[in-house]
Amino acid sequence: MCGIVGYVGEKKCTPILINGLKNLEYRGYDSAGIAVMEQNHIEVVKEKGRVKNLEDILSSTVLNGTIGIAHTRWATHGKPSKDNSHPHKDNSNTFAVVHNGIIENYKELRMFLEDSNYTFYSQTDTEVIPNLIHYYYSKYDEKTKDNFLKSVIYACNELRGSYAILVLCNDFPNMEIVAKKDSPLVIGKGTNEYYIASDIPAVLNYTKDFYFLDDNNFATIEENEIHFYDSNNIELNKDLKSISWDCTSSSKRGYDDFMIKEIFEQPEAIKRTIINRINLGKICNFSDINLSRKYLSAIDKIYIVACGTAMHAGLVGKYAIEKLAKIPTITEIASEFRYQNPLIDKNTLCIFISQSGETADTIAALKLAKQKNCKTLAITNVIGSSITREADFSIYTEAGPEIAVASTKAYTCQVALLCCFAIYLSEVLKRENTNLLENLKQELLCIPEKIETILKNCDVVEDVANKVYLEKDMFFLGRGIDYTTCLEGSLKLKEISYIHSEAYSAGELKHGPIALIENNITVVGILTDENLIEKSVSNLQEVITRGAKTFVVCNDENVANRFDYSLVIPSTYTYLSPLLSIVPLQLLSYYITKEKGLDVDKPRNLAKSVTVE
Ligand code: M6R
Repeated sequence: MCGIVGYVGEKKCTPILINGLKNLEYRGYDSAGIAVMEQNHIEVVKEKGRVKNLEDILSSTVLNGTIGIAHTRWATHGKPSKDNSHPHKDNSNTFAVVHNGIIENYKELRMFLEDSNYTFYSQTDTEVIPNLIHYYYSKYDEKTKDNFLKSVIYACNELRGSYAILVLCNDFPNMEIVAKKDSPLVIGKGTNEYYIASDIPAVLNYTKDFYFLDDNNFATIEENEIHFYDSNNIELNKDLKSISWDCTSSSKRGYDDFMIKEIFEQPEAIKRTIINRINLGKICNFSDINLSRKYLSAIDKIYIVACGTAMHAGLVGKYAIEKLAKIPTITEIASEFRYQNPLIDKNTLCIFISQSGETADTIAALKLAKQKNCKTLAITNVIGSSITREADFSIYTEAGPEIAVASTKAYTCQVALLCCFAIYLSEVLKRENTNLLENLKQELLCIPEKIETILKNCDVVEDVANKVYLEKDMFFLGRGIDYTTCLEGSLKLKEISYIHSEAYSAGELKHGPIALIENNITVVGILTDENLIEKSVSNLQEVITRGAKTFVVCNDENVANRFDYSLVIPSTYTYLSPLLSIVPLQLLSYYITKEKGLDVDKPRNLAKSVTVE
């Protein structure tokens, strides 16, 4: 879950590496470090804390090298400290390594190396890597590039777990070797230069052309040359792929934080995601996934599998698919799915949703589904991400880079895409009235404008946030599709504001949680499903009677007037309502967190991509 950046080229690399690390801080921010090749020796500078601390030290250090590696850490093995931060060197100071991932067998390897007289200076799993590379390298009499590569390959073949690593070697000051297994790594190409990173946004300022490594791939990189190898040292061919992300999309563009910028980007992001899918008067366009009518008719079940916010999008997907395409759909948390021996077979379509495309549990769940002969469809935001290399088919949300740890625009794009897919299934299988499906498509196209209307009222939500930001606990209540919005709203609030919050189906209130309602506690109600509004209103009345303050999001002024605070949002079809009702909840979390003076984009203990189990 750490972030890594590397550079090989003609320019001084330190500013490029630091800039890359800043763009990657959403991956981890416990400590940061760089290693730069300086006239045949590797200079390492590292520091505990945020990249800014490292930058402060570097401001008084002269580094002229044009080849380097860098790392921002999310601690797994060993507490955040200077000693545990990367890069790590081997005992002979020949190699420097940065690593993202977890080496599961590091204890065995460390014992083995200690028996061979290697000493360890950190508590990390990573430190075995440079020493293991040195162990193999020291067996060669000749110091050749080929022997450097072979030593990296032999060392990696010993590692169990996940890794993306960048390696520098004193003996080859013009070269960097990189390797990957189960952790993301991309190599961007410039003119006479290469940019290596765990995530595209780190280097998007410099290039849009990328090589994507597969698992167990290695690359040797020099200024004008790049070669790819597999774990048997056989050379591979790789195509360069261009990505369409705009380089300004990974900057704040005048907003205070990435999260608020990303909330405001939702109308455009949704438009991009659906515009080429919706054909008015014709079946939606999913020609990029080759699922025949015959196959779709034979499906008796759909599983949607994901983690966190992506799983909440999956809950909306279940609702839309079941209602429109009449296919039984189960939405499951990936970390549960992978260990529950799910009842799936060739007649089950398994959909995996992941913004990053790198979430370890989601990818493991996908691999399990493949073993059971299911067709697998990935929904992701990142071209070339690991999930796209595993799934039978991939479709993309067009959210653009999402940098804030709290997911916002990726969620609404996932929901919009799932709704299109549900309409498509219904059209292909002729499961719903054509008029309804056509109206839904028309309405989907109107959603961006309706979100704009909500965003114009952000000050209403800000006022509510200013009144409730000192709360210790909050509750979110809704029924049906509104309950899925509550789950997502509650996750948003707790992950960035650290306010304890719970989402409940309003009907469940009397079965336990109402015991927690006390004077002045804030309860948020989502009231958009017209068939269930009166029931939810009654439940909210019950909490008001017990002293709660209420904030509701609804479509009707008369309903709104019955509560302490409210926001009336445009109405839409129930299937699509989460696309609108979530926006005020995103804003509420954002403004509460700002009012508390916390870091909105980088909440404590979290990282953007959870690439370890
Ligand atoms: O990259 P993914 O969509 O697979 O990430 C899944 C979750 O880790 C992610 O949605 C997480 O819950 C967010 N921080 C929520 O805002």
